Amino acid sequence: MSDSPAPHERFKLRSVAFFGRTLAEYLQMFALHLNELRGRKILDVASGPGSFVAEALALGLDVTGCDPMYAHDAASIAAQGTRDIDACREQIRKNPGILVYEDIDHFYAEKYRALEKFAADFRHRSGERRYIAGALPELPFDDEAFDVVLSANFLMIYAPLADGGMHDGNEFGLDFHRRAFQELARVTRRELRVPGMHTWTQPPQPHPYCEPAVAELEGLGFDVDLVPSDYDDGCQGSDGCANQVLVARRRHDAGNTKGRA
Ligand SMILES: C[S@@+](CC[C@H](N)C(=O)[O-])C[C@H]1O[C@@H](n2cnc3c(N)ncnc32)[C@H](O)[C@@H]1O
Repeated sequence: MSDSPAPHERFKLRSVAFFGRTLAEYLQMFALHLNELRGRKILDVASGPGSFVAEALALGLDVTGCDPMYAHDAASIAAQGTRDIDACREQIRKNPGILVYEDIDHFYAEKYRALEKFAADFRHRSGERRYIAGALPELPFDDEAFDVVLSANFLMIYAPLADGGMHDGNEFGLDFHRRAFQELARVTRRELRVPGMHTWTQPPQPHPYCEPAVAELEGLGFDVDLVPSDYDDGCQGSDGCANQVLVARRRHDAGNTKGRA
């Protein structure tokens, strides 16, 4: 990482931002087709104020979202969502060239759209156990409770600045990541996907936690691949490293589900 900007020149966040994405963004980011999710019991960990759960439920999919913020009431988490989208946008405006999106206006329009759908669905489904409060590294679910487990934009990205993440703190270091991957593996019956296996530096590099995560999952009985994603997460310049999704399949199910790549 020697040619990366020093940590003080980088995009950094003091706390985990509460903002989320749409179903279309999720499919692109995780390199998934909707058909690969039909008939499966799906968990989205660190689900945030995105509309993936709301949109997928409306299409008849069996999805549950889990996030520590779901312990709060709908009005306060919607307000937090608006504040965090605004704050991230402001950071990007003040630090040009650090996160570069092909279409920044579209990127942020999608975040507000996702938040609006999430807030309505969160209120509407308050008795249904579709939005469950919980935090890594200890999730409130049984072993192998979900066929497919997804988790985006929390692991890897909130590693400390010194390890290529954007968190200005050491809470989510390598030990936390090891325990988080063990926990995600515990609740996964078939397949686990985590995108963003690169650093949030310019240029991005393979994330230093990727190899330990792969080793952890292989040791727990998963086959692991890194598959390309064409989602624009602001890091992939012309000379950037590939945007990759970690796809881990439990060995007894290997071959039953396939990544798009
Ligand atoms: C940037 S959002 C990502 C939302 C969504 N997954 C997406 O990709 O758009 C990060 C989320 O991680 C959640 N979070 C913070 N600490 C967590 C923890 N220990 N375990 C699980 N989620 C956590 C935050 O509340 C926030 O909603």
